[in-house]
Amino acid sequence: MIDLSERLGFKAGFSPEDSKFCFDNPADSGEEWKKSLASKVIEAEKERFLWQSMMFAQEFTDSEGNITTCPELKRFYPKNPDSVLYSGYRGVGSGNPNFSKLALRQLRFDLTLIPPGGIGKEFMRTEGHEHLLGFPEIYSVIYGRAGFLLWTMNIDRENDAMFAEAGEGEHVIFPPGYAHISINTGGSQLILADIVSKNAGPRFMRIKTKNGGPWWGILKENQLEFVKNPRFKDFYPDGQGLRRVIPAPEVPKLGLRKGMPLWELSGKVADNLNFLNYTNTDRRDDELYAQAFLHYNQRL
Ligand SMILES: [Fe+2]
Repeated sequence: MIDLSERLGFKAGFSPEDSKFCFDNPADSGEEWKKSLASKVIEAEKERFLWQSMMFAQEFTDSEGNITTCPELKRFYPKNPDSVLYSGYRGVGSGNPNFSKLALRQLRFDLTLIPPGGIGKEFMRTEGHEHLLGFPEIYSVIYGRAGFLLWTMNIDRENDAMFAEAGEGEHVIFPPGYAHISINTGGSQLILADIVSKNAGPRFMRIKTKNGGPWWGILKENQLEFVKNPRFKDFYPDGQGLRRVIPAPEVPKLGLRKGMPLWELSGKVADNLNFLNYTNTDRRDDELYAQAFLHYNQRL
């Protein structure tokens, strides 16, 4: 059992053998969810959409991004008869006093578990979503190594796509209006924590129909490499690159620094998290977003 208490900020552990969490206070677990391909509760149509959204880089699509082959997923998860791709808990920490501070601000604390490996050449990842009103979100790596693909999909404006990698104890702020996919770039299980507005309204369909984000993270010669998803050519014309950004070790406007549990922030300075309920149209949080990344601007 791996003790996650120090990183999480409340008492909990994780068993990598069977991918189970253990909460000291059972009330802390919140609501469990699973993204599964073979589960009997998923009727055929939903399953097909999930297959599409988890596609699968070049190996299973043609040059236009159309699916040509369905991979045999069970071979990737021989010990996992339901083919659970990834899972998590929503509304975690209800046994802790910080929970009500978050609830008062319409916020929620979640956990996501993404296994290592990949499907085809593509690294294991979430299917990705955008938020209905474009609310921001904040993520924290609890265990393992993560990559976050963040991008905009505006029809009438110039678009931006960035990639941020983060290790244990690092925090990544998703700015307003950025769709997002979390990728397990390490060799172990990946555990993520996040705080998000209950009113964020995740929307999956636009990303499902495009088989993921504007770039696919694939394994090439033992390294993560990005290839362009041809279904995004209307949003990202040829020549437009993906830029690498580094999560800042400290965000003074939030009172957040590397190594500090996100949960701690929700207790002491919970008002600082109010930015998660705004899209910054009045520019009130410009300074916060300017502090969030070190802009390397290296093209990938
Ligand atoms: Fe989100």
